[in-house]
Amino acid sequence: MVGDPTSPTTFNRVQTKLFLILALAGYVFAKNEHYIGWKSYFVGPPIKEHVKTLVILGEKMDLDYLSPPHPEREAIVLVPPRKQLEFIKTLKNFTIKYRSHAENVKATLDRDDERIRNWTNIISRNGGAVTPYNSYLCLDAIYGYMHHISMRHKKTVTMVTAGHSFEGRPLKYLKISTTNFHKKSKNIIFVDAAIHAREWIAPPVVTWIIHKLTDDVTEPNMLNDFDWILMPVVNPDGYEFSFSEKRLWRKTRSTNTDPQSFRCPGVDGNRNFDFAWGATGSSSNPCSDTYRGNRAFSEVETRTVRDILNTYSYRIYMYISMHSFGSMILYPWGHNSSDSKYSFNLHLASSAMVKAIRNASLPHFPDYVNGNSGKTMFYTAGGAADDYAHNLGIPYSYTFELPGLSGGMHGFELHPMHIKQVCKETWIGLVAGITKATKLTEKDRS
Ligand SMILES: *[C@@H]1O[C@H](CO)[C@@H](O)[C@H](O)[C@H]1NC(C)=O
Ligand SMILES: *[C@@H]1O[C@H](CO)[C@@H](O)[C@H](O)[C@H]1NC(C)=O
Ligand SMILES: *[C@@H]1O[C@H](CO)[C@@H](O)[C@H](O)[C@H]1NC(C)=O
Ligand SMILES: *[C@@H]1O[C@H](CO)[C@@H](O)[C@H](O)[C@H]1NC(C)=O
Ligand SMILES: [Zn+2]
Repeated sequence: MVGDPTSPTTFNRVQTKLFLILALAGYVFAKNEHYIGWKSYFVGPPIKEHVKTLVILGEKMDLDYLSPPHPEREAIVLVPPRKQLEFIKTLKNFTIKYRSHAENVKATLDRDDERIRNWTNIISRNGGAVTPYNSYLCLDAIYGYMHHISMRHKKTVTMVTAGHSFEGRPLKYLKISTTNFHKKSKNIIFVDAAIHAREWIAPPVVTWIIHKLTDDVTEPNMLNDFDWILMPVVNPDGYEFSFSEKRLWRKTRSTNTDPQSFRCPGVDGNRNFDFAWGATGSSSNPCSDTYRGNRAFSEVETRTVRDILNTYSYRIYMYISMHSFGSMILYPWGHNSSDSKYSFNLHLASSAMVKAIRNASLPHFPDYVNGNSGKTMFYTAGGAADDYAHNLGIPYSYTFELPGLSGGMHGFELHPMHIKQVCKETWIGLVAGITKATKLTEKDRS
């Protein structure tokens, strides 16, 4: 059952200890009391017309889709106790199929927490180091790791605090460059994660990229030929809240965008960018999980990503926003499902990623697909980061939906024994994609 606990080779004893302490401090899980009486359901797969009905039902009842309505797959929806009767009645009336996903959401989350605690114990017992890329760690531990890397690799790594979140937490990213970002002709790769708080597999993938560019360089051209901006946690308030209070929290934690925000805090960061803001696929209701905010860039967290994109737009070659789950690589336009002028190259580079990931993946992992965001997801959404970046002229702009597997709360809580696998295969995909994109660019120039 147990995967491959990390070997301690890249960490000396002291560092191992440091990370254990940080990690253990990070395992103060919520009691999941909020979820008493909650249930989740598989719904569908509906016929095409029902997709819309499910979307409208979700909006009307403020339901949280853990996996969105789609004509070829079952959706997964989370339903609080007071809404269950109405929810079932409505599905029956529309003759939409449903079945139970988690009878007792609280118990499922409790078991998932225990699984993570057990996992850290297994790693430590085997003499391995608990790292941000083999376990789910709290913000302090991730920032601790970034600080540690910036101290160990002073020549190439700079830690930047770009500002502070709504609740005052630092917004940090690393710049990695063999030429101190001075060489203007170098392309930049910018990867961020956890704009959606509950997507816990995303920060490990970004910290693994940091690891592969510092402590364990096996592709030196990735380090030498590109400059990197790596931001593992875009939304630290939401991320911490998903550890301490509500595991399935998605949004930021701001309370200043609407009189209702005190009761229903937070904005969906990936609906808050100033491109096709408010167009479709987002809500004006502060209590919705896809609330877009009262204006574009109402959130300091999205403004921070914006400022990175704007500052370096002329040099950013590839921008990837890491999300989960669904095993998909999506590209613009996501607000209207039209193909961008660049979609041929976007498709070819992402196909190279998919091919490499499949080759490196495990047999029981879902197969990756790639495509236009609107067409692949079967819904369009305005105000998303990837569209914003692409509209600035960044050619390769992607949203990754990292893998989720069944078991536990399904998807957002991939068993921690799989974290390292997802990190490794995603890095392999990224390298293949960057290599392919570079070849395409050379071909376009010649
Ligand atoms: C029941 O379904 C019909 C269409 O099948 C729809 O017109 C009606 O509004 C639905 N009623 C409720 C309460 O959802
Ligand atoms: C955690 O470990 C304990 C002790 O080994 C075991 O009894 C329990 O079943 C484990 N829990 C989970 C969810 O794996
Ligand atoms: C979709 O959006 C893009 C970018 O804004 C635009 O160029 C394109 O014309 C739009 N497509 C349609 C069908 O409106
Ligand atoms: C597939 O993986 C194997 C083993 O890791 C590797 O040697 C091979 O080059 C990979 N092939 C492709 C097409 O990526
Ligand atoms: Zn997401």
